[in-house]
Amino acid sequence: MSQQDEMSFDDFDEALNPRAETCDFDDVVEAALSRRGFVGGVLAVGGFATLGGATLPSGARAETSRFAFEQIGASTADTVTLPPGYKAEIVVRWADPLWSEGAEFNPETRGTAATQALAFGDNTDGMEIFPHDGRVLLAVNNEYTNRSIIWGNRGDEGPNADEIEKSLLAHGVTVVELAHGDNGWGVVTDSPFNRRITPRTEMALTGPAAGHDLMKTDADPTGTKTWGTWNNCGSGTTPWGTYLACEENFNGYFSSSEATEDRKDVEIDPALKRYGVSAKDWGYGWARIDDRFDIAKTPNEPNRAGYVVEIDPTDPNSVPKKRTALGRFKHENAECVLNSGGRLVIYMGDDERGEFLYRYVSNGVYAPGTDTDDLMENGTLYAARFHANGTGEWLELSEEVTGMIKAEICIHTRQAASSVGATTMDRPEWVTANPNAPEIYCALTNNRYRGIKPNKGGDLTPADGPNPRVQNNYGQIVRWRPDSGDHTAAGFAWDLYVLAGNPAVHGDAYAGSENVNVGNMFNSPDGLAFDSNGLLWIQTDGRYSDEGDFEGQGNNQMLAGDPVTGEIRRFLVGPKECEVTGLCWSPDRRTMFVGIQHPGERGNSHWPDGGAAVPRSAIIAVTREDGDLLG
Ligand code: FEO
Ligand code: CA
Ligand code: CA
Repeated sequence: MSQQDEMSFDDFDEALNPRAETCDFDDVVEAALSRRGFVGGVLAVGGFATLGGATLPSGARAETSRFAFEQIGASTADTVTLPPGYKAEIVVRWADPLWSEGAEFNPETRGTAATQALAFGDNTDGMEIFPHDGRVLLAVNNEYTNRSIIWGNRGDEGPNADEIEKSLLAHGVTVVELAHGDNGWGVVTDSPFNRRITPRTEMALTGPAAGHDLMKTDADPTGTKTWGTWNNCGSGTTPWGTYLACEENFNGYFSSSEATEDRKDVEIDPALKRYGVSAKDWGYGWARIDDRFDIAKTPNEPNRAGYVVEIDPTDPNSVPKKRTALGRFKHENAECVLNSGGRLVIYMGDDERGEFLYRYVSNGVYAPGTDTDDLMENGTLYAARFHANGTGEWLELSEEVTGMIKAEICIHTRQAASSVGATTMDRPEWVTANPNAPEIYCALTNNRYRGIKPNKGGDLTPADGPNPRVQNNYGQIVRWRPDSGDHTAAGFAWDLYVLAGNPAVHGDAYAGSENVNVGNMFNSPDGLAFDSNGLLWIQTDGRYSDEGDFEGQGNNQMLAGDPVTGEIRRFLVGPKECEVTGLCWSPDRRTMFVGIQHPGERGNSHWPDGGAAVPRSAIIAVTREDGDLLG
């Protein structure tokens, strides 16, 4: 997400832990010079001219457009807009009950902890479909709550303990069975597979960090067991059919009871500061009801969050597993690729200004039907370094190079990546693999401090390589091909698929790359997913002011891109003040499920129910009116 009530998560971090403006002027100038040659390559986007030696998938170069829809215009309407011939229906909204003993949403009270425990969580995000025994199971993240909406009826009173618990229980993950009937797609109430996984659900800590002293608390002196997951952003699926929920801005829920009027009186461990943990939370108040979130009382609890959580959606009694081997950072999503030979490779972004892009490679190989537990416990983490000449390398986060033991690498992963000199990125969001080529795409959503401020670890953020613009408010999508098509190779070749921008306002690099025009322009690419036809779907979580630098771009939206020709078309526009996030398809590929998160986060939407209704995050089902395939 980018907007959280009045401030974005990054803005909260910045306000609580301001960074020094220490980028050396010479560094910026040097970076700008090296950018000159590079931008020529970027602006020539549209094919693989800049990926030296890369070959196109046979038959993939289309003579004509591969899009089956007409592009729609930008919009500021408080509705979901689609091309002619397509329609959208609501599948499930925040607070819709999943069990018959639950209660329908009450707009007067806006629910209680008890009703929320039996209902769909707030702020839908990453999601995946799991066909199982003829059923359709959906696993979906409920990233966070808009306090101005869930507590919007509280006036000056503020939330009481039950309402704080309600907020807590609106976080986590929902597993729900869906069925298609006369009224379209909907929830199967009381399905034995329906499940809420919340910040209170028992979980196992696995991998190198499990059992380390930094993971131990009074409630868990073994450091192997924890409770719950929150701020789950993007998602992933494993080759063996489990769901991956990725913990992102976990830090904003912790506070210190030692904080006084002047929060600076409280000394914060530098290792926690690197992750933005502060004496003040972002307004959730969880430490008021649970000492786990009070770092004065439970200083190690933040070390037990920031991981990828593996969940088996087909077993409602399974204990979710936090996979510490995949590192601790502000995880966006986890894109699993099976390399030839069977090793599991997982690409992951750390979504914060100036943080890094990661790769995990399993030691073992995957064989269908065999025990897979080891594959996300024993392996190696790498961080990416990009060179301005279009090549890059994966830097192993080894004990030798980092000077840290394996458990510490998995807990203090950002510090490990800083120590090897990884490239500071413009907020890596979703990573997705092209099904037709050994090629990976990553959305770099924006970074207005590029070239201005270092990251939290003090690493400089010069404008160069795949992050070529200072004060980058628009974002870009980088893609790379591993050397020899081997996802375990040390090297890769990269280029930018698109530089977002506004050609109606700017005439320089801020206009965007050649595949951006006044008809399809957007800002802040975030969610990415390929469909089975090999089209790249792009979801945005950016500025929706429709003014100034963003004039003409309207509300957040979803576009489709052709990876071969570079063409990009706008397919969907969301309602006011939402982000469009989370994307998956029904097993028959006739429905595309899309997430509409935080409509009306600033008080200006009544979607989806209209009138004077409280806005509610929801999943929609997009279909063609002729019932044909959709991706
Ligand atoms: Fe939750 Fe990086 O978006
Ligand atoms: Ca985002
Ligand atoms: Ca996101």
